[in-house]
Amino acid sequence: MKQKFYITTPIYYPSGKWHLGTCYTTVVCDALARFKRMQGFDVFYLTGTDEHGQKIEKVAKAAAMPTKEYVDMQVNSLIKIWDLLNISYDKFIRTTDKYHEDAVKKIFQKLFDKGDIYKSEYEGWYCTPCEAFWTKTQLKDGKCPDCGREVELTKESSYFFRLSKYQDRLIELIESNPEFLQPKSRQNEMLNNFLKAGLQDLAVSRTSFKWGIEVPFDSEHIIYVWIDALSNYITALGFMSEDDSLFRKFWPADVHMMGKEIIRFHSIIWPALLMALDVPLPKKVYGHGWLLFGSDKISKSKGNIIDPVILSERYKVDAVRYYLLREVPFGQDGAFTNYTFLSRINSDLCNSLGNLLSRSTAMVEQYFGGVLPQRSEDGEFDGQLIELVNGLFEKVRDNMDKLLVPEALAEIWQVVSRANKYIDETLPWVLSKDAAKRDRLGTVLYNLIETLRIVGTALMPFLPDTAQKILSDIGIKEAPTFEDSMTFGKLKGGETITKAQPLFQRMDINKELAEMDKLAEQLAATKESGKGAEQTKVAAEQEPKDIKPEIAYDDFAKMELRTGEVLSCEKIKRSEKLLKLTVDVAGEKRTIVSGIAKSFSPEEMVGKQVVVVCKLKPAKLCGELSQGMILCTEDEQGNIVLVNAEKKVGTGSVVS
Ligand code: MSP
Repeated sequence: MKQKFYITTPIYYPSGKWHLGTCYTTVVCDALARFKRMQGFDVFYLTGTDEHGQKIEKVAKAAAMPTKEYVDMQVNSLIKIWDLLNISYDKFIRTTDKYHEDAVKKIFQKLFDKGDIYKSEYEGWYCTPCEAFWTKTQLKDGKCPDCGREVELTKESSYFFRLSKYQDRLIELIESNPEFLQPKSRQNEMLNNFLKAGLQDLAVSRTSFKWGIEVPFDSEHIIYVWIDALSNYITALGFMSEDDSLFRKFWPADVHMMGKEIIRFHSIIWPALLMALDVPLPKKVYGHGWLLFGSDKISKSKGNIIDPVILSERYKVDAVRYYLLREVPFGQDGAFTNYTFLSRINSDLCNSLGNLLSRSTAMVEQYFGGVLPQRSEDGEFDGQLIELVNGLFEKVRDNMDKLLVPEALAEIWQVVSRANKYIDETLPWVLSKDAAKRDRLGTVLYNLIETLRIVGTALMPFLPDTAQKILSDIGIKEAPTFEDSMTFGKLKGGETITKAQPLFQRMDINKELAEMDKLAEQLAATKESGKGAEQTKVAAEQEPKDIKPEIAYDDFAKMELRTGEVLSCEKIKRSEKLLKLTVDVAGEKRTIVSGIAKSFSPEEMVGKQVVVVCKLKPAKLCGELSQGMILCTEDEQGNIVLVNAEKKVGTGSVVS
């Protein structure tokens, strides 16, 4: 029978603020899940969304949308990103799914019946962005110790979970089972900062808002979002439902993977809940580091492009996957810059891997008409290469078993480098000139293609598209199974080899950096000019432009809209989107920078009537001071259309 492997990401807040850092946990879990599948494990990879709680309720309100509609929209966008990044999850759970809500109610009821949940008064500090309660002593300078933001003093009647009852068992769990919480540094953090400092019972219900799962026996109360969210790992498997066969098959989880900021919830609250429910504990909770921009967890960026969709479309999905899997030392933080991203593509994906594939396949085509020769005459250097290739599977597996993903990739690149060196050592182009060396030439090329087969196979969990392309270029149509096929010598000879197209586009890094800067500026300008924060197609769907909170008439009356006439117009050199207009508004000449260049030439703008937003604070766009905005909309094809008065009126006419 196949061995099972259950791996989970945290469930994501449907906030719409997806960036490269947000994708990290999911891409890493995907590589691990794919690797295990290839090893023949019966894998269940779970991800999903954490949709309840005050934070989401507030964001939806700010977007003037019914909360459910808002989360539906965000969840759709997130799923599109996962599809784009080739995430091979087996199930996507939403905490608004009925089966989950029903099971969470049953869980709460069971804990209450058992006496592990009781009713009392809560007074303490609540951090809404983290959805976390804190005691006064836990605050750092009066702020949330996790995120440093303001906390609110909360006093309400609440149900409590007897977390303190499990303190000793939790200490024992972490101390006697070092595999449970990894990496090791997180163990000390949890033991010293929380467990040994003394656990207090946890408030597990709220009455101040409604967006959540009701306490089954007290409709005034909503179940605390972390109890709701953590339960997803078992409700997704049918725990406390009519059909719990998946739960019986896959639980306990083999790995719960997450960023380090939410380790506390997973290594203290979650095991305590499971202990209270008499459910076995997960085998491992792993807290990875953050992808940083500057010294902060990426949340906003200025110069760096951190949008996974833009990066994937411009450089290929596997360049993004490779960067995430390779660049961040697992368990520690890693810093993203445009430079490190482009350098990885150029050096590892183009120069090393791409070169090996194109050189090797081109030589088979040139010297053997695209038909792989057999191995017939071994020579110097072969042994070293073959030994390294034959040891690859074991090294990759050992690293993956320890969740050392960058190290696993580094082993594959060792082989790639060795094979490139092998070409330089064996000099096939010299062998090709000597008819007596034809067998040796054939063997050298066989060895290279066989190495590529094994490298391509090893890459399948990490870079699925690239691996597929390598294998198909060397004539392998069926996805190979793993371990067995990573033994050197399986190709028979006679396979059709196609001269490979480049795997990735090599770039002039300085030029490309300049392009990226330009792009970042345009994105920032689009945001500043009020044309919506959409950086990508996906984001555009997440953030409909029309949905804004209501404002009072007085606020609207603060706006001054007037007609104007465009006197002159020119392109802004460093931008593809922006035009600089000089507009006459009632005799006053204003410079306005507007993102309309994709639909209007400077020439056709001259003489046009436009509606100008007059009282906007001047803002610099691409180095030019813009004194206002002109009103535009977009047609169905995405062309920009000017918003205007029905007929020509005098410049400076008030629009109201
Ligand atoms: N909803 C909670 C988890 C509940 S699990 C029962 C949550 N969601 S989240 O959307 O904020 O985060 C999802 C994952 O993205 C977490 O693992 C988080 O650590 C990860 N990341 C978000 N930004 C990140 C970086 N900049 N770098 C690496 N991972 C980061 O927390």
